[in-house]
Formats: sequence, structure tokens, C-alpha cells
Amino acid sequence: MPDTEGFVRAAHVLGAGGLVSFPTETVYGLGADARQDAAVARIFEAKQRPTFNPLIVHVADIDAAKRYVIWTDLADRLATAFWPGPLTLVLPFRQDAGLSPLVTADLPTLAIRVPAHPVAQRLLAEFDGPVAAPSANPSGKISPTQAQHVIDGLTGRIEAVVDGGACGVGVESTILGLGNAPTLLRPGGLPQEALEIALGGPLATRSEADPLTAPGQMLSHYAPGATVRLNATETSDNERLLGFGNVQGATLNLSPAADLVEAAANLFHHLHALDAQSDAPIAVSPVPDIGLGRAINDRLRRAAAPRDR
Ligand code: TXA
Ligand code: MG
Repeated sequence: MPDTEGFVRAAHVLGAGGLVSFPTETVYGLGADARQDAAVARIFEAKQRPTFNPLIVHVADIDAAKRYVIWTDLADRLATAFWPGPLTLVLPFRQDAGLSPLVTADLPTLAIRVPAHPVAQRLLAEFDGPVAAPSANPSGKISPTQAQHVIDGLTGRIEAVVDGGACGVGVESTILGLGNAPTLLRPGGLPQEALEIALGGPLATRSEADPLTAPGQMLSHYAPGATVRLNATETSDNERLLGFGNVQGATLNLSPAADLVEAAANLFHHLHALDAQSDAPIAVSPVPDIGLGRAINDRLRRAAAPRDR
């Protein structure tokens, strides 16, 4: 945990329009003051991120969130149950709240969340303003779950990294659209099942054919240098196996005990390690599509997708 002086300096860099990477419980974010156009523009530049892909705004608590989005009873119920935590809510955006229009990429909605990581909480309290933060990786690459991943990917492009160790959850937040019907826009660190229990019924999910609601859900993403093959029950000669459960011959194993929470925490970490090792193809054991397995499989499918960049 950084000392008080460290948080003061990081908040100062944000206020001065700089880019500060910081840990959340999901992955490391690349933060900028969400009210400053030039600072937000630098996020897109540093990541080489398409500007039509909007950003999540991070705030300290529910009261702060209400300044930027039009709050509803349902939002209140879900935020009370799951914030701080790995849930992002997409709600109608208050156009007069002073956020840079680059944050929302001209959508009428804003994605907002309250992260649970103590370092993120301290930084948000010290900065006392909205922080726009995508994951702190070059666009299309594997998300960072350690400060070193951020340094490896973005050195020279950002001002600072606040080192808070490894991220506990390991996959990005679950994104829930709260338009007419609550809609799962991205599976993530809060299992869909937990949301369905809280909502008292099944969630609608975004159809792949709907590009507007989640422009960032590009098919190829989280891509290591090597090709990735899913649901592998055996490997060919030159393949490296990313295992799950009790499998033989794995180069790395997401969770030998087949624990999905452990597997999520290891996912990007192991993909980074395999990426650094060689470009030999990666085969991945089947991962059950329940709980955090849904988020893991979503990320793996994107890692395995034909590369579009
Ligand atoms: O766990 C996380 O959510 C991490 C940490 C840093 O908080 N952040 C993260 O940000 O994953 P990013 O930018 O890598 O992914 C945000 C996703 C993108 O796919 C983007 O398209 C989507 O959120 N998004 C942002 N605003 C949206 C909106 N108004 N409507 C629909 N999707 C939105
Ligand atoms: Mg990302």
C-alpha cells in the first residue's frame, strides 16, 4: 500500500491532466480526470484505443455516482447490494455534469462504477473527482493484473503507476445496462447468477448483432502474440497447454483444483506469462460456463478470435 504522500502525488498528477494507473479489485485501470478533455484524450492515445469506445467513470460512492447519471430505484438497489465491487452500471448520462464528451463517445449513457480495492478507494477519496479509467493495457492486448504488466505495456506513455500488488478478482467488472430491461453487456467479476438473484429473474443479454450498446466489445481482444485454441482436451506437439482442473502436461494451470475464482484471478496473469515465454500456440482446457467461468470464457473467446488489428 502506498503511503499518504504517494496518494497525494498521484491525485496531483490526475489534477494536472496526467495519466495514473491504479489497481482495482478487477484489473489495473488507466485513470484520467474525467472532466478534462485533454487528459481523457491522452488515454485514447496511450492505449491506441478507438475513440468510439467509451470509458467507465470511477467514483468513490453512490452519492458521487448520482452527480453523473440519472439514478433510479433499481440502480439504487443494485448499487447498495454490490458497490463497492466489480459491477459497472450503464445509465442515462447527465449532460450538464461537466464530464468530457470523449468519455461517453457521444452515447446518451454513461458507464459508472465504485471500485472496492483499498488503493482505488484511497486515490478516489484523495482526488475527490470522477476518474475515467479503461483497463491499463494497449488496446486489444491482455489486461493488466499487476503493476509490472502496466509498466511493460505502457512505459513512456503514462505518468505514474500506483502499485497495489496483484488484483484479486482478475477479470474486468460485469457491465449491466439499465435501460428498459436490465441487460448484461459484459460478463465479468460479479457473476450473472448473483445479479439474477438480486433482480429476482433472468437477465437479458446483449446480442452480438447490436454494436451500439457496447462498442468496445470487439471480437478480437485480450490477444497474446500466439494463437489460442479453446476447449482443448489434448494438445499437438508444439502447443502449450493452459490447463484448468486436473489435467496432465499443462505449461500453466488456471486452477488445478478447478476453482473458478482462482482461475479468474490467474487468467490474465498466466496469459501474460505465456506471451512473454514464446509465440508457440496456446491450447486451453475447457472451463465450465457458470459463475466466473462465463467471464473467463468470454475473455478466452476474444483471445482466440481472428485478429482484426
Ligand atoms: O473492471 C473494469 O471494468 C476495469 C477497471 C479498470 O475498472 N475497466 C475496464 O474498462 O474494463 P475498459 O475500458 O477496458 O472496458 C469498458 C467497457 C468497454 O467495452 C466499453 O465499450 C464499455 O465498457 N462501455 C463504456 N461505456 C459504455 C456505455 N455507455 N454503454 C455501453 N458500454 C459501455
Ligand atoms: Mg479493457
